[in-house]
Amino acid sequence: MRVPFTDLAGVNAPLQGELMEAFADVVRDNAFVLGPAVGKFEADFASYLGRRYCVAVSSGTAALHLALLVAGVAAGDEVITTPLSWISTTWAITYCGARPVFVDVEPGTGNLNPNLVEERVNDHTRALLPVDLYGNPSRLDLLAEVATARNLRLVDDACQAHGSRFQRRPVGAMGDLACFSFYPGKNLGGVGEGGAIVTDDPDLDSRMRELRDHAQSGRHNHVCIGFNYRMDGLQGAALAIKLVHLDQWNQERRRVAARYLAELDDAGVDLPEVTPDADPNWHLFVVHVNERDRFRARLADLGIESGVHYPLPIHLQPAYGSLGYEEGDFPVAERLAASCLSLPISPVMTEAQQDAVIDAVTSVAKELR
Ligand SMILES: Cc1ncc(COP(=O)(O)O)c(C=O)c1O
Repeated sequence: MRVPFTDLAGVNAPLQGELMEAFADVVRDNAFVLGPAVGKFEADFASYLGRRYCVAVSSGTAALHLALLVAGVAAGDEVITTPLSWISTTWAITYCGARPVFVDVEPGTGNLNPNLVEERVNDHTRALLPVDLYGNPSRLDLLAEVATARNLRLVDDACQAHGSRFQRRPVGAMGDLACFSFYPGKNLGGVGEGGAIVTDDPDLDSRMRELRDHAQSGRHNHVCIGFNYRMDGLQGAALAIKLVHLDQWNQERRRVAARYLAELDDAGVDLPEVTPDADPNWHLFVVHVNERDRFRARLADLGIESGVHYPLPIHLQPAYGSLGYEEGDFPVAERLAASCLSLPISPVMTEAQQDAVIDAVTSVAKELR
C-alpha cells in the first residue's frame, strides 16, 4: 500500500461544488482583491479565535512582517526567536532591519525554551517571536510573563497552529499579535497563498490595514512606506468555507495522532511530546530517529511517504552566515534537525493507511536499531 504524506485532494474534494459556487460569485462581482469574501473571512476567523480583529494578507510571511512592523520592530532592534522553524519566521525579523537572536529549543517539543529567553533580553530587544511548531503550542504563558516583565511585544507565529488550543483557549488568542499562514497544505489552507494577523488592539489593526494596501489612508494618500500584502478574493471565499470544517478535520488528525502515540510507544522511535495543558492540531506528526535519511529511504521502499521539518536549523542556513552563529551554538535544535522525521497525517487517512504506517515504522526501527 502507498501512503501519501498528506492528502489535500481528499480534504478538498467534498467541498468542490461549494467552492466553485463561491468562486463564481467572486468572478461575477469582480471582487478579486480584498472585497466582501475577504471581509467575511476576517470576521469569521476573528470570531473563531475570540479576537477583536483579523487582517487578511497575502501570505504567512507577509503576516509576520506586518505584525513585527506594527509591534515597533525596526533597524537596530533585536527579536528573540527559535532556530527550528520554517525560515519565514526569521525572514520577517530581517525584513524589518532587525537582528534575529536565537534561543535553543525544548528537547521534547522543539519549541522555544522559555527558561532560556530572559537571559538574552537586553536594551535592544523589542519582541519575542515563538513558533507553535508542528501545531503544538509554545509555552505562551511563560513567554507572556517575560514579555510583560521586560516590556516586550509578544508575537506568536501560529502559522502551523490553526485550531490548536492552549489552556483552553484557541492558539492565536494570546500575545499582542498572532500570525497565520493559509498555504494550501496547512490545516486551514487556501487555494493559493494567504495569511492573517489577529489582535485585540484597534490601533495595530488599522495600521496593518493601511500597510497591507500600499500604506494608503484614503485613496492616493500614502502615509508611509507600504506594501502590497492584500489577500485575494478567491482565498477569502475558500477560507470562509473551509473554516467551518477546521475543528472536524483537527479531530480526525487527533485520532490519527492518538493511534500513533499508543501504537508506536514501544517501536524504538522518539515520539513527540505535547506541551502541558495543550491540545495540538497535529499539523505534523514528527518522530525522532537515528539514521534519519536511511530510515526515510526504507519507509519509501515500503510505500510510506514522509517529510523532514526541518533538516537545517536557521542559524546554520547560508543566508544567515553573516549573523556569526556556528554549529554547536544550539545543540538541542541541531540534534532535533538531524533526527526529525514527519510521518503521514491527514484528516482523511484510512485505518488501513494508519496500520501501514505503524507497521512500517515499527519494522524499520527494528531493522536499524
Ligand atoms: C512556522 C511558519 N512560519 C511562517 C510560515 C510562512 O507562511 P507562508 O508560506 O504562507 O508565507 C510558515 C509556512 O510554511 C510556517 O510554517
